[in-house]
Amino acid sequence: MFDYPIFDMPMFGHRLIFAFDAIVHVFISHGAAVGGSIVLVLAQWFAIKNNDRKFDELAYKILFTFFILATAIGALTGIGIWVHVNIINPAAIGALLRVFFWKWFVEWIVFNVEMVFLLWWFLTWKKYPLGTPGKTFHFKLGVTYAVSSWFTMAIITAILGFMMTPGQWLVSEFPAKPDYLAALFNPSWIPSLGFRTFFSVAWASAASMFLAWFFAHDDEDMRQYAMRFFGRILWVAVPVFLAFGYWYYLQFPQAAKDMFPIGAVTRQLAGNPMAVWGLTGGLAAFVVIGGATLYVRPKHAPLAVAVLLLVGCMGLIAEFERVREFVRKPFIIYGYMYANGVRVMDVPVLNRDGFLKRAAFVPDELKTVTEANKLQTGKLLYEMECRYCHTVDGVNAIKARVKGWDEAAIYHRIGSLNSPATPFMPPFAGTDDERHALAAYLASLNTTPALAAQH
Ligand code: HEC
Repeated sequence: MFDYPIFDMPMFGHRLIFAFDAIVHVFISHGAAVGGSIVLVLAQWFAIKNNDRKFDELAYKILFTFFILATAIGALTGIGIWVHVNIINPAAIGALLRVFFWKWFVEWIVFNVEMVFLLWWFLTWKKYPLGTPGKTFHFKLGVTYAVSSWFTMAIITAILGFMMTPGQWLVSEFPAKPDYLAALFNPSWIPSLGFRTFFSVAWASAASMFLAWFFAHDDEDMRQYAMRFFGRILWVAVPVFLAFGYWYYLQFPQAAKDMFPIGAVTRQLAGNPMAVWGLTGGLAAFVVIGGATLYVRPKHAPLAVAVLLLVGCMGLIAEFERVREFVRKPFIIYGYMYANGVRVMDVPVLNRDGFLKRAAFVPDELKTVTEANKLQTGKLLYEMECRYCHTVDGVNAIKARVKGWDEAAIYHRIGSLNSPATPFMPPFAGTDDERHALAAYLASLNTTPALAAQH
């Protein structure tokens, strides 16, 4: 927020870059790590039980792929998330750290355990062939990996749940004192954890079917066995995660439920149920058609259906994450902090004393709006309050949003940002002078090309 330096992300904007990183991370963490460990431990268990050397070999090849993805892309995007949140919204991550400090600490330790056991399980697979006594020990390495990766997800899910439904977590407003247990056991934690657990399992089995298409390509019987094995897990996991998903949905605040259509598509398309349901239904159809074909005709299904299954799953995951992030707006922590890092309880103070005066990184001469510094202070206010979701002339360009409006009209609109027409925007915080300065700066984007070009 305004206690931190401003970092501008031109063209793409912060939201898009972060969404890209985070969604790729979810593909990997849910599929290759959490779901992948569960599915492959099950596969190994069956291979041991049936002394099935070929299936053991196939499970190893799939683990090899998951291993590379988890340690390379998973780690990169995981660190990327930390870097992004610190750039975009340090105030929000600070607020979350205050409430979840020790849980995050424990999560980090368990994550280390997870990585050690992943390495150990993967690197010693060949050392303990089927039928040797060490195989049971080796199997336990996999189980430990699966349990620890699920545990890290459980904690992160508590934090994500807290952001959407913090529940009765504030004991007192000033200084904000948290009830740690209430925050942890927030209303959406358990349902969202069940939802993510089973969708991870479903996603990992779909990914395993896709990989089995390649790895068991020359062995039709093995391919059939693998498609049926992973397919069965997929069909069991889907209804369970849908049931948890519905329970999870019931926990969302009503205002968030009302925004589902906009979150699912865009504001322009939200009025059209065909667009909303067409996209989601289309992706679900990909999964059903791809998964069913691989299951029913494992020996003859073409690569295209495996790709269809993969694309459908990835699309639905991305769609879910977008909706979840969007419908929480205008908040980053529901009811407590707006998406731009302004605490709800601070708005009256900022309106009275001024936003710029409270901003640590604003030079003294720009703390008060004057006729001479109006455009400069307006720009700072834009950067501190609007840049989280807008860019100047890229994605969700503010320039396009105010195109053709004069300064008076913009000034007027700034007073009703958090209105029923645009409930996803936080209200403007600041004095009347600051509101005028912001309006002047936004109006200047269209009229003075020289200033607009500075970005
Ligand atoms: C939480 C994210 C978020 C923040 C913060 C935010 N906006 Fe927006 N704003 C949006 C979205 C999303 C739209 C809708 C874009 C669309 O129609 O596709 C929008 C639309 C607008 C519009 C057009 C409104 C209309 O009626 O069509 C204006 C003007 C605007 N924003 C100004 C601002 C200003 C000024 C700020 C900072 C004080 C700001 N926004 C902060 C997300 C945000």
